[in-house]
Formats: sequence, structure tokens, C-alpha cells
Amino acid sequence: MLAIRGRGCHTFKRLSQYGAARAGRLSDHVRNLSYLAEMGPLSETHEMLRKTCADFAERELIPIAGELDKTHKFPAEQIKKMGDMGLMALDTDVEYGGAGLDYLAYAIAMEEISRGCASTGVVMTVNNSLYLGPLNKWASGEQKEKFVRPFTTGDIVGCFALSEPGNGSDAGAASLTATLDGDSWVLNGTKCWITNAHEASATVAFATTDKSKRHHGISAFIVPMPTPGLSLGKKEDKLGIRASSTASLIFEDCKIPKENLLGEDGFGFKIAMQTLDAGRIGVASQALGIAQAALDCAVSYSSTRTAFGKSINKFQAIQFKLADMAMQVEAARLVNWRAAILKDSGKNFTKEAAMAKLLCSEVATSASHQAMQVLGGMGYVSDMPAERHYRDARITEIYEGTSEIQRLVIAGQILKEYGV
Ligand code: CAA
Repeated sequence: MLAIRGRGCHTFKRLSQYGAARAGRLSDHVRNLSYLAEMGPLSETHEMLRKTCADFAERELIPIAGELDKTHKFPAEQIKKMGDMGLMALDTDVEYGGAGLDYLAYAIAMEEISRGCASTGVVMTVNNSLYLGPLNKWASGEQKEKFVRPFTTGDIVGCFALSEPGNGSDAGAASLTATLDGDSWVLNGTKCWITNAHEASATVAFATTDKSKRHHGISAFIVPMPTPGLSLGKKEDKLGIRASSTASLIFEDCKIPKENLLGEDGFGFKIAMQTLDAGRIGVASQALGIAQAALDCAVSYSSTRTAFGKSINKFQAIQFKLADMAMQVEAARLVNWRAAILKDSGKNFTKEAAMAKLLCSEVATSASHQAMQVLGGMGYVSDMPAERHYRDARITEIYEGTSEIQRLVIAGQILKEYGV
């Protein structure tokens, strides 16, 4: 059913080596995905990738996710290991150091990694879809050598600078300016809410070269970091995904070479929109991972906690919650995978990606809320992961387009389909 590009074989080998040793002791969660057999089997590569990422999450992420969250520590060691496994550039061409896999593979891997640690998940998704995504599609060969290849290994990561203090949802109102001065572009202005800002070694930044043209005046630029004239704002103190950094980028007469324009001058808004279409599948997958982790936690706790002489999973009040959570996670996963499969087939997937992001993020919020309810008081303290899942889930309804923006995108596409 699903074709993987042949060029992915090198990474397949790397993933197989990693996963084979542990194939015998996969988590219950992995075994519980057996319903996929009815959909048609996943290809060997997708299946191996899923098992490998699930195992990595069990061994390397779940044990430390709580501590990373408490200490706000960037998971550098884990990101490096993920780079070695090919996870930091999953759909980047093998020619430029990537894994050469498809977007379904990316969705599967992102979910499993985020089930282990949602902070690590956001670092992975920003590097894959928001930073490498536009470069894979629009960068020249020379730009790829410089700004793609080094970002595939997990040694360094990139970020994406679109939002500004004065514009979030209205991405077309960018006021960061770019002025051509001889052989350089000079950037002035501020970008905010930038994931990976403090660790990033480059960013794709959107700036206007002609404000009077509104979104047609926006261009995309590749900015190395650090670079003179670019400074970082303070790390935001966030509710969730606390092991990833979020900060402003402040450009003050920041000069970058003329050749760092990405794509054509004036084409930046389209690059941003198409990048976000793909990125929303990544956030949807992150949300699914959080929702699945919340369900895992609720099942596990309710199976050991006793009340009124029996384990609480014997009570219908608990069973109804578990049933609803499991049903919602499965439904959301299918919607997300459909969006990924559509993207892989080269068809338009704007509506489906927005639906996936909207549904998966709302399922993550609802599942993590219900998991906390199942755990009761234990759900409200940081001895258990339920409260972290609840905090981590919330951002998935906000970044890469709020739920309200997803509804606007979906409605716009539906009206177009109906021709009204
Ligand atoms: N693909 C290609 N082109 C697209 C497109 C898409 N998905 N969506 C719109 N366009 C094009 C339109 O065709 C139109 O082109 P023309 O003018 O040439 O005809 C142009 O873009 C403008 O379209 P709209 O009039 O629909 O645009 P708009 O200004 O009304 O905005 C929007 C549309 C959907 C609201 C958009 O602004 C948007 O997505 N906003 C949300 C931004 C967002 O997600 N920000 C998150 C930033 S990243 C982040 O979260 C940080 C992080 O680090 C994780």
C-alpha cells in the first residue's frame, strides 16, 4: 500500500541495526497497534521505523522526560542519537544526508518520539518540517550543501522565524524588513515565539522587501546563527514543552549574503504557507504522541490503583473514559496518516493537514484532561507524568496555526470545493 523511496535504504539499515536487538521486547503500546493489519500492512520500513522509535522512546526518553521538563534542559544527547538514527532529517534526500523517507514515516516517528517526550518531539518537528522542509523544496544545490547537510545529523538544529510581536495569525503582515545593500540583505525587526531559538545554528526568516505589496512583498531568507546584528531574546517561561527553548530573534542591521535569499523574491508567503501545511502534520503527530502517552498512563494507573476493594479499571466510570480516549486517539491517527499519505502522493493536502492538526490537538487536550481525572490527586502532582501531558498538550492547539486558524483554512478549502 505504501511505497518508500528507494533512496531510504541507507537509513533503513541504520534503523534496522538499532531496532533489531530490541525487537523482542516492544512496549504494549506498539503491540496494541495491531489494527493496522486491517488497513493493509505497513511497509517493512514503516513498521521497523515505528518499532525502533517506540523502543527508543521507552528506553531513552520516557525515563528522563520529567527531569528534562523540570530543569528546562535541552535534550542535546537524545537529539544527537536521533540524528544518528536519521530522525532529524527524515524526508530530506539521502543525497544531502537525510533519510530519504516519506511523510507517513515522519508522522509515525514523530508520534512515537513525542509519546516519549513532547519537548524532544517539538525540537524534531521544527528541524524536520519548518527548517529543513522549505530548504528541501526551494534551496539551490549550493544552499543545501551549506544549510541542509550539516543539519541532518543531530549535531545542530535549525529554526523557523515567521511570527512577530505585532502579527501571529496574520502571517501576511510581516514587518521584519529586508533591504538590498550591494551584495548583502540587511534585516531589521523582531521575530517571536521561535522554537529552538537558543540552540539553532540557522533560521529560515520571513521579511518584507516591499511592504506596499503586503504578502506579495514577503521573501524567505536563510540566516546563519550566530551572525552579527542578530541577538536572542530571553527564553520564554512556558506552561509545557519546557525542555525546548522559545525566544525572540532581534535583527538590528543584520547583514546576510545576497545569495541567502530562499526561492524567488516575493515568494516568501507561499513558502511559509506550504511549509506550515506540512508542519501541521508534524504537530498533529506530536499531539497524538501526547494523547497516547496520556492514555497509556491512565490505563497503567487504573490497573494498579484499588478502591472499594477492586482495581479502579473495573469501574464503568473509568472504563468509559478509557474507551473514549482510545477511540479518539485512533480516529485522529487515521486522519493524520491520511494527510501524510496525501502529501506523499503529491496531491493537495492543505485541508487534510489542517483537519489533522485541529483534531489531533483537541484529542491531546481532551485525553490528557481525562487521564488526569482518572489519576485523581496523583494526576495533579509531578510524581506522575499525567500533569506534564496536560501541560504539553495545550500548545498543540496554538502553534503552527491556532485551532481557530485551522477552522478558517478548512472552511476556505471546503467552500472552494463546493464552488461557492
Ligand atoms: N499553500 C499555498 N499558498 C497559499 C496557502 C497554502 N496553504 N494558503 C494561502 N496561500 C496563498 C493564497 O493562494 C494567496 O495567494 P495569491 O495572493 O497569490 O492569490 C495568498 O497565499 C494569500 O492567501 P490568503 O488571502 O488566504 O491569506 P491570508 O492573509 O488571509 O492568511 C492564513 C491566511 C491561513 C490565516 C495564514 O495567514 C496563516 O496560516 N496564519 C497562521 C500562521 C501560523 O501558523 N503561524 C505559526 C508560525 S510557526 C510557529 O508556530 C512557531 C514555531 O516555532 C513552532
